Amino acid sequence: MSPSLRLNTVKIRRHRWCFEDVGNRDWLAGSAAVSRWFDVYTLLVPDNESFYIRTLRQCTVDAAIDEFDSAELFRFFRQESLHGIAHRAYWRKMRDLGIEYSDFLRFINWVLYSVVEPKQCLRIRISMVAAIEHVNACLGNTVLKGDLFVNATGSLRKMFYWHFAEEIEHKAVAHKVLDRLYPGYFNRIFGALIAFPAFFCAVFVGTAYLLSKEGKFLTRRTATELFKFWIRDGVLKDLAFHLCRYFRTSFEPWELNDHHLASSAELPIRRNSPLSKSSRSLSTLLRL
Ligand SMILES: [Fe+2]
Ligand SMILES: [Fe+2]
Repeated sequence: MSPSLRLNTVKIRRHRWCFEDVGNRDWLAGSAAVSRWFDVYTLLVPDNESFYIRTLRQCTVDAAIDEFDSAELFRFFRQESLHGIAHRAYWRKMRDLGIEYSDFLRFINWVLYSVVEPKQCLRIRISMVAAIEHVNACLGNTVLKGDLFVNATGSLRKMFYWHFAEEIEHKAVAHKVLDRLYPGYFNRIFGALIAFPAFFCAVFVGTAYLLSKEGKFLTRRTATELFKFWIRDGVLKDLAFHLCRYFRTSFEPWELNDHHLASSAELPIRRNSPLSKSSRSLSTLLRL
């Protein structure tokens, strides 16, 4: 049995998020550039996670997905829905702080979900979800391992650590669905060839857009902050190393067993999901 099948780690945690302590838009170590990078990540989360759900939802009726996998998928949907709600709650605070993101968000969502997504068949869309989930899990590993948000505002540190911990917990779910329905190296890699560049281009364009609105794009200070975070502190090197593991033929999400990072992160109280009892499960989840 593969490690991904042995580790049933997907748990539901609820928390009422409020960001009253966020009084400064440069909430991450006082750096505008790095704060905007993670602000853009936040802007991408809700619609991206809706994309995962509507894609994998189509697989729940497939005979290759057994009862255990379906239950795990429902917990995955629940986690992703709660991530979307939390990040969207922070958008209100961004607007209060004068961060104008609407034009970027409209543009990027049109490109990703009106142009790119409809052109892909289900096989490629599942492959893209599995690839982005690998990006999320790698980012989670890098952030939690390095405690990179130690100098961040408390509520945002808590939200990101919770989110990244759960990305690690459920990192094998989409991979497992892809492996059951469309096994093979090229089925996995094709989605990555679309999803990896799309994700990093979207974050780069969004960060450049938000910084330019503040007159901070292409300034010496921005370059220094980005160099310090991504290069000098080794974040880019660590992230790139883990991302590249995806291209090995023998790749398996739990080959890197970093579950301890998720369980030791600062997390809201866990509540067990009522999913097994509920006929409202999927429809309720998808309405969240
Ligand atoms: Fe998520
Ligand atoms: Fe995820």
